[in-house]
Amino acid sequence: MNLIVGATGMLGSEICRLIAEQGGAVRVLVRDSSNPEKVERLRGLGAEVVRGDLKDRASLEKACRGASAVVSTASSTVSRQEGDSIENVDRQGQMNLIEAAEEAGVKHFILISFPNVDIDFPLQTAKRAVEDRLRRGRMTYTILQPTFFTEVWLSPALGFDPVHATARIYGGGHNKISWISFRDVAKFAAAALGNPQAVNAVIKLGGPAALSPLEVVRLAEQVVGKRVIVEHVPEEALRAQHGAATDPQQQSFAGLMLYYALGDAIDMTETLRALPVQHLKSVREYLQATP
Ligand SMILES: NC(=O)c1ccc[n+]([C@@H]2O[C@H](COP(=O)([O-])OP(=O)(O)OC[C@H]3O[C@@H](n4cnc5c(N)ncnc54)[C@H](OP(=O)(O)O)[C@@H]3O)[C@@H](O)[C@H]2O)c1
Repeated sequence: MNLIVGATGMLGSEICRLIAEQGGAVRVLVRDSSNPEKVERLRGLGAEVVRGDLKDRASLEKACRGASAVVSTASSTVSRQEGDSIENVDRQGQMNLIEAAEEAGVKHFILISFPNVDIDFPLQTAKRAVEDRLRRGRMTYTILQPTFFTEVWLSPALGFDPVHATARIYGGGHNKISWISFRDVAKFAAAALGNPQAVNAVIKLGGPAALSPLEVVRLAEQVVGKRVIVEHVPEEALRAQHGAATDPQQQSFAGLMLYYALGDAIDMTETLRALPVQHLKSVREYLQATP
């Protein structure tokens, strides 16, 4: 039995779909406040649904009972409900889940994190603390550290909108990023389950090629067939925003935008040898499929 925590989220739901498709047993932890349609979709995959919350340790003990693996994608950053914070969900909540999983005799814990970046912000502090706890724990662990999800960071929600001829870029736009589709992150998570190559491993994940944001804009211009106006958020402005933010959520978002400005190119050769995932989706394919 594989318990997925964060199963109603973008990445978690895709992981559930893949595991179910491969014939694996799926149990999902959902909240009373989770979107009922998403929960129904998970039931439709054959998932066993259990109610709980990362802030409620007892609910996690129940959810972990009989599970051999736990995959946690949960985060408060986007799907925050009243009373949720980076501290009590992303840090303490994940710690609660690890403890509950250890006590229930879970063998393998897969955590979705992101690569280490030389900027101090609360989400990163939480992720690193949870990673350390896993390293010191009793379970086999796999820590997956994807860079920027293409579908999130190259979307109108974050100002990248070539269809309407505009693109917001954080920083100068010259530093390369290995954008990765969340669907490929899900493939790596599913491939890590029960895989000896993923035992006690910390694996950075990127897509098939590293492209600077300005290169992405040029590509988008070719795909949509029009000139795109670029709006830069200068690195100094991001640093000022990061320095001035008092809310942990805002400080974390500023930290992530700075990380984007600095770039992160990842060589996937070794990882693809260890965890053979077929065809990583390119930025061009993503842009071509965007309506
Ligand atoms: N976006 C990126 O570019 C990027 C890059 C690298 C790593 N990541 C990491 O990838 C992971 C998955 O991201 P995503 O986009 O799939 O996130 P998402 O769509 O916002 O999903 C978050 C999930 O966490 C659940 N959750 C939140 N608070 C919870 C709580 N207190 N108890 C139990 N479940 C709770 C949510 O449940 P409800 O439906 O009930 O709210 C939802 O299922 C995150 O850990 C993120 O840090 C993201």
